[in-house]
Amino acid sequence: MAHRIAVIAGDGIGPEVVGQALRVLDVLRRDRGVDVDVWPLPLGAELYLKNGTTFPLELRDEVKATCSAVLLGAVGDPRVPSGEHAHDILLGMRSAWDLYANVRPVRALTDAMVPLRGKSKSDVNFVIYRENTEGQYVGAGRERGRGAADEIAISREVHTRRGVERLLRAAFDYARRHGRPLLMTDKSNAIQAQGIWRRVLSELASEYPDVKTEQLYVDALAARLIQSPERHGVIAANNLFGDILADLCAALAGGLGLAPSANLHPAAPGHIGLFEPVHGSAPDIAGRGVANPLGTIRSLGMLLEHLGYPAEIERIERAAVEVLQLGRCTTDVGGSLGSEAATSAFLEVLAHH
Ligand code: NAD
Ligand code: IPM
Ligand code: MN
Repeated sequence: MAHRIAVIAGDGIGPEVVGQALRVLDVLRRDRGVDVDVWPLPLGAELYLKNGTTFPLELRDEVKATCSAVLLGAVGDPRVPSGEHAHDILLGMRSAWDLYANVRPVRALTDAMVPLRGKSKSDVNFVIYRENTEGQYVGAGRERGRGAADEIAISREVHTRRGVERLLRAAFDYARRHGRPLLMTDKSNAIQAQGIWRRVLSELASEYPDVKTEQLYVDALAARLIQSPERHGVIAANNLFGDILADLCAALAGGLGLAPSANLHPAAPGHIGLFEPVHGSAPDIAGRGVANPLGTIRSLGMLLEHLGYPAEIERIERAAVEVLQLGRCTTDVGGSLGSEAATSAFLEVLAHH
């Protein structure tokens, strides 16, 4: 039976990169028997500015009930400084569907993508498991006296045993499957509440004696990622640290234009997943047709793997390596093509894989 996927192109470069990824999907449907129906949802800043709609709850429920996955471009628009629609759409899906693991692979596709002196692609090959439903993203807190001299803004962070344990378990399982070391990062020396991450890690470690585990404060990790990226296999982090590290690590692997991600509920196979590039709506380059589509195309690869097409993610990854090697890519990764021409080059190369 055909899988149905919902597609939210969103704002800024979102529609540009999603449009290119859908060209790739069309080819896979035609040539590779990928059986997927696409349901486009016109959510984003435009709709929000028109009538205040963000993501109607009935629609979100219908997507959950009828789709295997969602492909998202990006949400966020300078005309909506509150980010209300982006919050409802993106964080809404993550929390309502309990997509507790944000899996962000960090793999340099070619040596030239690695910006560090003396390092090559084999040195940048690991994955981030970001907790995706708790931490500083729970919206607990309040603001008082906006603009006043005694203004106060309070945000609490929440870490539950259930939330920490299930994320770490997913990271441990991945580490075990791939024979990689697991590093958990926190800031429990300054933020006492984050001590729960250390405690749960050491409890779980005894269940996974075959996985080498390590803990590092996030400030020290930031330095080590630049000096010795090769030491990392799986990095587990809370929501906010995972967000920040994902962009830093995307830069280690060639830039935000290339980085894919999956939002998953790994405890239940077949659960709906949300797939999106790590980058945002990039208002600084939106509308010019120059955005790199590869982060979204690689996210489509992760989506297809989720749907049971493992051969397609392999082909997509290999074709991405080849277009970069050939320099047939966008300017952010050293090429001279626009989004559309870069995708045409990608499709040409993909046909040989
Ligand atoms: P951003 O990721 O949009 O852009 C950061 C920089 O990377 C910019 O210089 C941009 O031009 C560049 N860049 C990003 N994607 C690129 C691509 N595909 N090709 C080439 N260059 C690319 O981050 P930002 O500027 O902090 O955020 C812009 C908006 O996007 C904000 O509203 C933010 O909240 C939102 N955002 C949304 C998501 C999401 O929907 N998942 C993720 C991050 C940020
Ligand atoms: C991401 C983004 C989001 C996040 C923003 C847009 C709320 O930066 O997906 O990495 O912080 O999770
Ligand atoms: Mn981010």
